[in-house]
Amino acid sequence: MKGKKGLFITFEGPDGSGKSTQVRLLGAYLTEQGFDPVLTREPGGTRIGEKIRDIILDQGNAEMDALTESLLYAASRAQHVAEVIRPALDAGCAVLCDRYVDSSIAYQGCGRGLGSIVADINSLAVGGVVPDLTILIDIDPEACFDRIGKRVIREGGDRMESEDLAYHRAVYDGYLELASLHPDRVKRVDGNGGVDAVSDDVRKVVNAFLLDRLNASSGAPARDVPDDPANTRPEQTTVHAAKGERS
Ligand SMILES: Nc1ncnc2c1ncn2[C@@H]1O[C@H](COP(=O)(O)OP(=O)(O)OP(=O)(O)O)[C@@H](O)[C@H]1O
Ligand SMILES: [Mg+2]
Repeated sequence: MKGKKGLFITFEGPDGSGKSTQVRLLGAYLTEQGFDPVLTREPGGTRIGEKIRDIILDQGNAEMDALTESLLYAASRAQHVAEVIRPALDAGCAVLCDRYVDSSIAYQGCGRGLGSIVADINSLAVGGVVPDLTILIDIDPEACFDRIGKRVIREGGDRMESEDLAYHRAVYDGYLELASLHPDRVKRVDGNGGVDAVSDDVRKVVNAFLLDRLNASSGAPARDVPDDPANTRPEQTTVHAAKGERS
């Protein structure tokens, strides 16, 4: 959220790419560094949002129209921004969010073919709350299928997970397009390595971002920056419990 006190980082990527794993690990890392990060997820993140999430992901709602789906995601997001994200950022917290607007653009805009209307709907929903940094976990959806396939076969999966590979390929292409359209905000991290390797890369991206922010605010050359870039953490006045972190 440019110009505000807090730090807003979102995680994106195909189903099973490791987003929730990396949100958790980055949350632990930032906590070690003295931050008090708020970990949250979409769809959901609030009581009302979790109810909307259940409607969206319910396998029984196979007839759901693509526009309905997109509006439901946006409704959940509007509540999430109003109740969790904006207040946390205004209080100076670091917010780590598992999926955000880019998911809607990739899944509904590209996957469902709704196109640019998705960005318009979401612009209304988020009211200017844009991530400072987006980590795109870059891994081919086929590789993700191998990871989550067993669970989907065992438990049936949710309505989005059960879409075919062609749909997930269109989503993936949408993500790559977003990364090329917003190179300053969306950073690709190779998701093919092990959990620790991906986590190292995520930390590098976040630390580089924090150094840049420190340099921009102080005007100091890079050599004057403290070794620990986490020293650039925003002033924090509020303690937040983690909300709705996805397991
Ligand atoms: N780098 C990795 N290498 C191998 N397995 C991984 C890696 N990261 C996560 N996993 C495993 O893959 C599965 C999916 O990971 P995770 O739930 O973090 O992905 P996700 O992107 O949040 O998925 P979803 O889109 O379904 O929420 C989990 O079983 C997790 O333990
Ligand atoms: Mg997840």
